[in-house]
Amino acid sequence: MTDLSTIRSEALGAVQAAADLAALDAVRVGVLGKKGHVTGLMKTLGGMSPDERKAFGARLNELKGEIESVLEARRAALETSALDARLASERVDVSLPTRPEGQGSLHPIGQVMDEVGAIFGEMGFTWAEGPDIEDDWHNFTALNIPPDHPARQMQDTFYLPPRADGTPIVLRTHTSPVQARTMLRPDVQKMLADGGSLRIIVPGRTFRIDSDATHTPMFHQVEGLVIDRTTHMGHLKGCLVDFCRAFFEIDDLPLRFRPSYFPFTEPSAEVDIGCSWKDGELRIGAGDSWLEILGSGMVHPNVIANCGLDPAVYQGFAFGMGIDRIGMLKYGIPDLRSFFDSDLRWLRHYGFSALEWPSLTGGLGR
Ligand code: PHE
Repeated sequence: MTDLSTIRSEALGAVQAAADLAALDAVRVGVLGKKGHVTGLMKTLGGMSPDERKAFGARLNELKGEIESVLEARRAALETSALDARLASERVDVSLPTRPEGQGSLHPIGQVMDEVGAIFGEMGFTWAEGPDIEDDWHNFTALNIPPDHPARQMQDTFYLPPRADGTPIVLRTHTSPVQARTMLRPDVQKMLADGGSLRIIVPGRTFRIDSDATHTPMFHQVEGLVIDRTTHMGHLKGCLVDFCRAFFEIDDLPLRFRPSYFPFTEPSAEVDIGCSWKDGELRIGAGDSWLEILGSGMVHPNVIANCGLDPAVYQGFAFGMGIDRIGMLKYGIPDLRSFFDSDLRWLRHYGFSALEWPSLTGGLGR
Protein backbone atom coordinates (compact mmCIF):
# COMPACT_ATOMS: atom_id res chain seq x y z
CA MET A 1 0.00 0.00 0.00
CA THR A 2 2.84 2.44 0.82
CA ASP A 3 4.33 1.30 -2.45
CA LEU A 4 1.30 2.58 -4.30
CA SER A 5 1.21 6.08 -2.79
CA THR A 6 4.96 6.46 -3.33
CA ILE A 7 4.58 5.48 -6.96
CA ARG A 8 1.71 7.90 -7.27
CA SER A 9 3.48 10.93 -5.81
CA GLU A 10 6.69 10.19 -7.72
CA ALA A 11 4.81 9.77 -10.98
CA LEU A 12 2.74 12.94 -10.57
CA GLY A 13 5.87 14.89 -9.63
CA ALA A 14 7.75 13.57 -12.66
CA VAL A 15 4.86 14.48 -14.99
CA GLN A 16 4.81 18.07 -13.74
CA ALA A 17 8.62 18.27 -13.97
CA ALA A 18 8.77 17.05 -17.59
CA ALA A 19 9.96 20.09 -19.54
CA ASP A 20 9.16 18.84 -23.03
CA LEU A 21 7.27 16.14 -24.90
CA ALA A 22 10.28 13.79 -25.05
CA ALA A 23 10.79 13.97 -21.26
CA LEU A 24 7.06 13.43 -20.71
CA ASP A 25 7.13 10.32 -22.86
CA ALA A 26 10.08 8.96 -20.84
CA VAL A 27 7.95 9.39 -17.69
CA ARG A 28 5.05 7.53 -19.33
CA VAL A 29 7.28 4.62 -20.31
CA GLY A 30 8.78 4.49 -16.80
CA VAL A 31 5.34 4.14 -15.20
CA LEU A 32 2.99 2.56 -17.73
CA GLY A 33 5.39 1.00 -20.25
CA LYS A 34 6.10 -2.74 -20.48
CA LYS A 35 8.65 -2.49 -17.70
CA GLY A 36 6.97 0.40 -15.89
CA HIS A 37 6.26 0.46 -12.14
CA VAL A 38 2.48 0.22 -12.46
CA THR A 39 2.74 -2.48 -15.11
CA GLY A 40 5.06 -4.40 -12.77
CA LEU A 41 2.46 -4.28 -9.99
CA MET A 42 -0.25 -5.44 -12.42
CA LYS A 43 1.78 -8.57 -12.93
CA THR A 44 1.72 -9.34 -9.17
CA LEU A 45 -2.11 -9.53 -9.16
CA GLY A 46 -1.97 -13.11 -10.44
CA GLY A 47 -0.33 -14.33 -7.19
CA MET A 48 -2.93 -12.81 -4.86
CA SER A 49 -6.01 -14.22 -3.22
CA PRO A 50 -9.29 -13.26 -4.94
CA ASP A 51 -10.19 -10.70 -2.23
CA GLU A 52 -6.76 -9.13 -2.23
CA ARG A 53 -6.74 -9.07 -6.01
CA LYS A 54 -10.11 -7.38 -6.15
CA ALA A 55 -9.17 -4.63 -3.69
CA PHE A 56 -5.65 -4.06 -4.96
CA GLY A 57 -6.67 -4.36 -8.62
CA ALA A 58 -9.30 -1.65 -8.19
CA ARG A 59 -6.82 0.72 -6.57
CA LEU A 60 -4.22 -0.04 -9.21
CA ASN A 61 -6.67 0.70 -12.04
CA GLU A 62 -7.69 3.93 -10.37
CA LEU A 63 -4.03 4.96 -10.09
CA LYS A 64 -3.39 4.03 -13.72
CA GLY A 65 -6.37 6.14 -14.84
CA GLU A 66 -5.24 9.09 -12.78
CA ILE A 67 -1.69 8.97 -14.12
CA GLU A 68 -3.02 8.66 -17.68
CA SER A 69 -5.19 11.74 -17.38
CA VAL A 70 -2.37 13.78 -15.76
CA LEU A 71 -0.06 12.68 -18.59
CA GLU A 72 -2.65 13.75 -21.16
CA ALA A 73 -3.17 17.15 -19.55
CA ARG A 74 0.56 17.77 -19.36
CA ARG A 75 0.98 16.69 -22.98
CA ALA A 76 -1.64 19.20 -24.13
CA ALA A 77 0.00 21.98 -22.08
CA LEU A 78 3.45 21.20 -23.47
CA GLU A 79 2.12 21.15 -27.06
CA THR A 80 0.50 24.55 -26.63
CA SER A 81 3.63 26.13 -25.24
CA ALA A 82 5.76 24.50 -27.98
CA LEU A 83 3.46 26.10 -30.57
CA ASP A 84 3.59 29.46 -28.80
CA ALA A 85 7.39 29.29 -28.76
CA ARG A 86 7.46 28.51 -32.50
CA LEU A 87 5.07 31.33 -33.29
CA ALA A 88 7.22 33.72 -31.30
CA SER A 89 10.52 32.59 -32.80
CA GLU A 90 9.27 32.32 -36.41
CA ARG A 91 7.47 35.65 -36.52
CA VAL A 92 7.69 37.26 -39.98
CA ASP A 93 8.70 40.90 -39.98
CA VAL A 94 6.58 42.27 -42.83
CA SER A 95 8.33 45.62 -42.59
CA LEU A 96 11.69 44.17 -43.72
CA PRO A 97 12.80 45.25 -47.22
CA THR A 98 12.50 42.53 -49.87
CA ARG A 99 15.56 40.66 -51.04
CA PRO A 100 17.01 42.35 -54.15
CA GLU A 101 16.34 40.41 -57.36
CA GLY A 102 18.22 40.76 -60.63
CA GLN A 103 15.92 42.64 -62.98
CA GLY A 104 16.34 42.47 -66.73
CA SER A 105 16.08 45.55 -68.90
CA LEU A 106 15.09 46.39 -72.45
CA HIS A 107 17.73 47.14 -75.06
CA PRO A 108 17.60 50.80 -76.18
CA ILE A 109 16.82 49.69 -79.76
CA GLY A 110 13.66 47.88 -78.65
CA GLN A 111 12.74 50.88 -76.53
CA VAL A 112 13.20 53.31 -79.44
CA MET A 113 11.15 51.05 -81.75
CA ASP A 114 8.35 51.03 -79.16
CA GLU A 115 8.52 54.81 -78.81
CA VAL A 116 8.39 55.28 -82.59
CA GLY A 117 5.51 52.80 -82.76
CA ALA A 118 3.61 54.68 -80.03
CA ILE A 119 3.93 58.03 -81.82
CA PHE A 120 3.00 56.82 -85.30
CA GLY A 121 0.33 54.59 -83.80
CA GLU A 122 -1.40 57.74 -82.55
CA MET A 123 -1.29 59.06 -86.14
CA GLY A 124 -3.02 55.95 -87.50
CA PHE A 125 -0.01 54.05 -88.81
CA THR A 126 0.24 50.28 -88.42
CA TRP A 127 3.41 48.20 -87.95
CA ALA A 128 4.56 46.20 -91.02
CA GLU A 129 7.52 43.88 -91.51
CA GLY A 130 9.44 42.17 -94.30
CA PRO A 131 12.34 39.73 -94.74
CA ASP A 132 15.97 40.59 -93.90
CA ILE A 133 17.10 38.57 -96.90
CA GLU A 134 15.55 40.32 -99.87
CA ASP A 135 15.55 39.84 -103.61
CA ASP A 136 17.15 42.38 -105.84
CA TRP A 137 13.79 43.35 -107.36
CA HIS A 138 12.18 44.50 -104.07
CA ASN A 139 15.36 46.06 -102.68
CA PHE A 140 16.25 47.98 -105.87
CA THR A 141 14.29 47.53 -109.09
CA ALA A 142 10.81 48.17 -107.68
CA LEU A 143 12.20 51.28 -106.00
CA ASN A 144 13.22 52.82 -109.32
CA ILE A 145 16.83 51.62 -109.14
CA PRO A 146 17.14 49.47 -112.30
CA PRO A 147 19.98 46.96 -112.78
CA ASP A 148 23.22 48.67 -113.80
CA HIS A 149 21.92 52.04 -112.64
CA PRO A 150 24.68 54.00 -110.84
CA ALA A 151 22.30 54.60 -107.89
CA ARG A 152 22.92 50.96 -106.90
CA GLN A 153 26.36 52.06 -105.81
CA MET A 154 24.87 54.52 -103.26
CA GLN A 155 24.38 51.56 -100.94
CA ASP A 156 27.26 49.24 -100.05
CA THR A 157 25.38 46.02 -100.49
CA PHE A 158 26.02 42.54 -99.11
CA TYR A 159 25.24 40.22 -102.04
CA LEU A 160 24.31 36.60 -101.33
CA PRO A 161 24.65 33.66 -103.74
CA PRO A 162 21.68 33.83 -106.15
CA ARG A 163 18.67 31.59 -105.70
CA ALA A 164 18.44 28.35 -107.71
CA ASP A 165 16.30 30.15 -110.34
CA GLY A 166 19.02 32.78 -110.69
CA THR A 167 17.26 35.53 -108.68
CA PRO A 168 19.91 37.83 -107.22
CA ILE A 169 19.50 38.24 -103.46
CA VAL A 170 20.92 40.65 -100.92
CA LEU A 171 20.78 41.49 -97.25
CA ARG A 172 18.31 44.36 -97.49
CA THR A 173 20.14 47.68 -97.49
CA HIS A 174 17.11 49.60 -96.22
CA THR A 175 13.54 48.99 -95.06
CA SER A 176 12.17 50.51 -98.29
CA PRO A 177 11.52 47.12 -100.00
CA VAL A 178 8.62 46.71 -97.55
CA GLN A 179 7.01 49.73 -99.29
CA ALA A 180 6.77 47.61 -102.44
CA ARG A 181 5.79 44.42 -100.60
CA THR A 182 2.93 46.25 -98.87
CA MET A 183 1.59 48.16 -101.89
CA LEU A 184 1.54 44.90 -103.86
CA ARG A 185 -0.66 43.10 -101.31
CA PRO A 186 -4.10 42.38 -102.83
CA ASP A 187 -5.89 43.42 -99.61
CA VAL A 188 -4.04 46.75 -99.66
CA GLN A 189 -4.86 47.32 -103.35
CA LYS A 190 -8.52 46.65 -102.60
CA MET A 191 -8.51 48.94 -99.57
CA LEU A 192 -6.99 51.73 -101.70
CA ALA A 193 -9.48 51.14 -104.53
CA ASP A 194 -12.25 51.48 -101.94
CA GLY A 195 -10.93 54.96 -101.09
CA GLY A 196 -8.88 54.01 -98.01
CA SER A 197 -5.50 55.31 -96.97
CA LEU A 198 -2.36 53.20 -96.46
CA ARG A 199 -0.22 54.21 -93.49
CA ILE A 200 2.57 51.93 -92.30
CA ILE A 201 5.80 52.08 -90.41
CA VAL A 202 8.40 49.36 -90.91
CA PRO A 203 10.93 49.01 -88.10
CA GLY A 204 13.61 46.41 -88.75
CA ARG A 205 17.20 45.32 -89.42
CA THR A 206 19.18 46.58 -92.37
CA PHE A 207 22.69 45.80 -93.64
CA ARG A 208 25.49 47.65 -95.39
CA ILE A 209 29.23 47.15 -95.78
CA ASP A 210 30.28 49.91 -93.42
CA SER A 211 31.98 49.96 -90.03
CA ASP A 212 33.15 52.79 -87.76
CA ALA A 213 31.95 54.62 -84.62
CA THR A 214 28.72 55.69 -86.33
CA HIS A 215 28.22 52.76 -88.77
CA THR A 216 27.84 49.04 -88.15
CA PRO A 217 27.31 46.39 -90.87
CA MET A 218 23.94 45.60 -89.27
CA PHE A 219 21.81 48.50 -88.10
CA HIS A 220 18.13 49.39 -87.78
CA GLN A 221 15.80 51.61 -89.74
CA VAL A 222 12.18 52.58 -89.58
CA GLU A 223 10.43 53.22 -92.86
CA GLY A 224 7.21 55.20 -93.14
CA LEU A 225 4.76 55.10 -96.05
CA VAL A 226 1.48 56.89 -96.70
CA ILE A 227 -0.44 56.26 -99.93
CA ASP A 228 -3.88 57.52 -100.94
CA ARG A 229 -5.29 59.98 -103.50
CA THR A 230 -4.64 63.28 -101.76
CA THR A 231 -1.63 63.14 -99.43
CA HIS A 232 0.85 65.86 -100.37
CA MET A 233 4.17 67.31 -99.29
CA GLY A 234 2.52 69.47 -96.62
CA HIS A 235 1.35 66.27 -94.89
CA LEU A 236 4.86 64.86 -95.08
CA LYS A 237 6.19 67.97 -93.42
CA GLY A 238 3.55 68.13 -90.69
CA CYS A 239 3.89 64.43 -89.94
CA LEU A 240 7.67 64.56 -89.55
CA VAL A 241 7.65 67.78 -87.52
CA ASP A 242 5.12 66.24 -85.12
CA PHE A 243 7.08 63.01 -84.96
CA CYS A 244 10.45 64.62 -84.21
CA ARG A 245 9.05 66.92 -81.55
CA ALA A 246 7.21 64.04 -79.88
CA PHE A 247 10.17 61.66 -80.08
CA PHE A 248 12.79 64.07 -78.74
CA GLU A 249 10.21 65.46 -76.29
CA ILE A 250 11.07 69.05 -77.26
CA ASP A 251 7.99 71.09 -78.23
CA ASP A 252 9.81 73.81 -80.18
CA LEU A 253 12.44 71.58 -81.82
CA PRO A 254 13.32 73.27 -85.14
CA LEU A 255 13.39 71.13 -88.31
CA ARG A 256 15.07 71.90 -91.62
CA PHE A 257 13.91 70.24 -94.86
CA ARG A 258 16.85 70.15 -97.27
CA PRO A 259 16.36 69.22 -100.95
CA SER A 260 18.02 65.89 -101.69
CA TYR A 261 17.96 62.93 -104.02
CA PHE A 262 16.61 59.41 -103.64
CA PRO A 263 15.72 57.32 -106.68
CA PHE A 264 12.38 56.30 -105.11
CA THR A 265 11.08 59.77 -104.14
CA GLU A 266 10.50 62.96 -106.10
CA PRO A 267 10.84 65.56 -104.76
CA SER A 268 13.10 64.34 -101.98
CA ALA A 269 14.20 66.00 -98.77
CA GLU A 270 16.60 65.22 -96.01
CA VAL A 271 15.50 66.37 -92.59
CA ASP A 272 17.78 67.98 -90.04
CA ILE A 273 16.97 68.84 -86.42
CA GLY A 274 18.33 71.82 -84.52
CA CYS A 275 21.20 71.29 -82.10
CA SER A 276 24.17 72.96 -80.51
CA TRP A 277 27.58 71.87 -79.31
CA LYS A 278 28.97 73.05 -75.99
CA ASP A 279 32.38 71.84 -74.74
CA GLY A 280 32.23 68.93 -77.17
CA GLU A 281 28.75 67.97 -75.89
CA LEU A 282 25.76 67.76 -78.16
CA ARG A 283 22.44 69.30 -77.14
CA ILE A 284 19.32 68.64 -79.22
CA GLY A 285 17.02 71.66 -79.57
CA ALA A 286 17.06 75.19 -80.99
CA GLY A 287 20.71 76.10 -81.52
CA ASP A 288 23.24 77.21 -84.08
CA SER A 289 23.81 73.81 -85.72
CA TRP A 290 21.92 71.04 -87.55
CA LEU A 291 21.96 67.24 -87.46
CA GLU A 292 20.69 65.10 -90.31
CA ILE A 293 18.32 62.42 -89.07
CA LEU A 294 16.21 61.13 -91.94
CA GLY A 295 15.47 60.90 -95.65
CA SER A 296 12.04 61.49 -97.13
CA GLY A 297 10.04 62.50 -100.17
CA MET A 298 6.95 62.03 -102.28
CA VAL A 299 6.82 58.45 -103.56
CA HIS A 300 8.11 58.41 -107.15
CA PRO A 301 5.41 57.67 -109.76
CA ASN A 302 7.61 54.90 -111.15
CA VAL A 303 7.54 53.16 -107.75
CA ILE A 304 3.76 53.44 -107.57
CA ALA A 305 3.48 51.99 -111.10
CA ASN A 306 5.99 49.21 -110.31
CA CYS A 307 3.73 48.23 -107.42
CA GLY A 308 0.67 47.84 -109.63
CA LEU A 309 -1.03 51.13 -108.77
CA ASP A 310 -1.97 53.96 -111.14
CA PRO A 311 0.33 56.94 -110.42
CA ALA A 312 -2.29 59.24 -111.96
CA VAL A 313 -4.63 58.23 -109.11
CA TYR A 314 -2.43 57.44 -106.14
CA GLN A 315 0.26 59.46 -104.42
CA GLY A 316 1.86 59.76 -101.02
CA PHE A 317 5.05 60.15 -99.07
CA ALA A 318 7.75 57.96 -97.59
CA PHE A 319 10.57 58.42 -95.15
CA GLY A 320 13.33 56.36 -93.63
CA MET A 321 15.50 56.91 -90.59
CA GLY A 322 18.10 55.12 -88.51
CA ILE A 323 16.66 53.81 -85.24
CA ASP A 324 20.09 53.39 -83.70
CA ARG A 325 20.98 56.92 -84.74
CA ILE A 326 17.94 58.63 -83.25
CA GLY A 327 18.38 56.49 -80.11
CA MET A 328 22.02 57.59 -79.76
CA LEU A 329 20.97 61.22 -80.14
CA LYS A 330 18.06 61.06 -77.71
CA TYR A 331 19.81 59.06 -75.00
CA GLY A 332 23.34 60.44 -75.40
CA ILE A 333 24.96 57.13 -76.36
CA PRO A 334 28.36 57.98 -77.88
CA ASP A 335 29.39 54.86 -79.83
CA LEU A 336 27.04 52.92 -82.11
CA ARG A 337 29.17 49.76 -81.85
CA SER A 338 28.36 49.46 -78.12
CA PHE A 339 24.72 48.69 -79.09
CA PHE A 340 25.84 45.30 -80.36
CA ASP A 341 28.61 44.36 -77.89
CA SER A 342 26.18 42.58 -75.53
CA ASP A 343 28.00 44.07 -72.55
CA LEU A 344 25.68 43.70 -69.54
CA ARG A 345 27.25 46.67 -67.74
CA TRP A 346 26.38 48.85 -70.74
CA LEU A 347 22.86 47.44 -70.86
CA ARG A 348 22.33 48.03 -67.13
CA HIS A 349 23.34 51.63 -67.66
CA TYR A 350 21.39 52.36 -70.87
CA GLY A 351 18.63 49.72 -70.61
CA PHE A 352 14.97 50.49 -69.98
CA SER A 353 12.39 49.11 -67.59
CA ALA A 354 10.35 46.33 -69.16
CA LEU A 355 7.37 47.42 -67.08
CA GLU A 356 6.89 50.84 -68.61
CA TRP A 357 5.27 50.88 -72.03
CA PRO A 358 6.05 54.13 -73.88
CA SER A 359 3.01 56.27 -74.64
CA LEU A 360 2.51 59.87 -75.62
CA THR A 361 0.41 60.64 -72.56
CA GLY A 362 2.56 58.67 -70.12
CA GLY A 363 5.90 60.11 -71.23
CA LEU A 364 7.94 58.27 -73.85
CA GLY A 365 11.37 57.97 -72.31
CA ARG A 366 12.40 57.17 -68.77
N1 PHE B 1 15.80 54.19 -97.96
C1 PHE B 1 16.52 55.41 -97.75
C2 PHE B 1 17.90 55.09 -97.19
O1 PHE B 1 18.07 54.06 -96.62
C3 PHE B 1 15.79 56.34 -96.84
C4 PHE B 1 14.51 56.84 -97.44
C5 PHE B 1 13.35 56.14 -97.27
C6 PHE B 1 14.48 58.02 -98.17
C7 PHE B 1 12.15 56.59 -97.82
C8 PHE B 1 13.32 58.48 -98.73
C9 PHE B 1 12.16 57.78 -98.55
O2 PHE B 1 18.80 55.87 -97.29
